[in-house]
Amino acid sequence: MCETIMEAVSLTKHFRSADKTWFTAVDGASISLQKGKTLGLLGQSGSGKSTLGQMMVGLLRPDSGELFFHGKLLSYPIRGQARRRIQILFQHPEVSFNPQLTLRQSLVEPFKLMGKPFDDGAILSVIEPFGLHAEHLARYPGELSGGELQRAALARVTVLEPEMILLDEPTSMLDVITQAQMIDFLRRYQQQHQTAYLFITHSTALAEQFCDEIVKMEDGHLLKERNTK
Ligand SMILES: Nc1ncnc2c1ncn2[C@@H]1O[C@H](COP(=O)(O)OP(=O)(O)OP(=O)(O)O)[C@@H](O)[C@H]1O
Ligand SMILES: [Mg+2]
Repeated sequence: MCETIMEAVSLTKHFRSADKTWFTAVDGASISLQKGKTLGLLGQSGSGKSTLGQMMVGLLRPDSGELFFHGKLLSYPIRGQARRRIQILFQHPEVSFNPQLTLRQSLVEPFKLMGKPFDDGAILSVIEPFGLHAEHLARYPGELSGGELQRAALARVTVLEPEMILLDEPTSMLDVITQAQMIDFLRRYQQQHQTAYLFITHSTALAEQFCDEIVKMEDGHLLKERNTK
């Protein structure tokens, strides 16, 4: 049984290009995300994937169209419960971390936001499922590998108990083995928590391996959906 977590209806975004003319980066995009499922958004560079993803997590306000979360129309900026339940994992994990804070300090923030106790036991229970350990907590972002940092970013997001995570090319900066590990952690987490993923990628092979359904994007338009499984 499918349970729709999020539905985007006709989201549209225009930007101004360098020559001051307006162009349509995303044109009337409609997609829905299901509980526990991964929707892949596949397309060439500049096709509008990140713009659409960012409208779906509230980082960008659409010029027109509507976004529903559990059937309820969201307004921008997204506030309240929905804001916490809708999360994002960026391509470059460094942007998610303050370079001057240790991993432990960075992890404490979402615990505070959630009003959860943040002793070492609680923090370890959040990072250990992602292959990180006590020794990593005292390190600064610059002292973690790309793969470790991306897993730490995912661990941090999970403290907020998200129902939907936008994964905007979360593995494209990683080597093949680290990428496979990350995909494995994402998959395991989804199986346990039934999180909906919107997975943005250039890679058809990766999309076919990881996604339940794939939508192609071309010049701001979504092409027909197709199932992979
Ligand atoms: N803030 C902005 N201002 C002006 N133009 C923008 C802005 N953000 C994106 N664009 C343009 O909108 C188009 C779509 O960009 P977007 O980042 O959504 O593409 P993408 O499919 O995610 O590409 P990539 O695969 O390279 O990440 C591109 O032409 C881009 O240059
Ligand atoms: Mg992008």
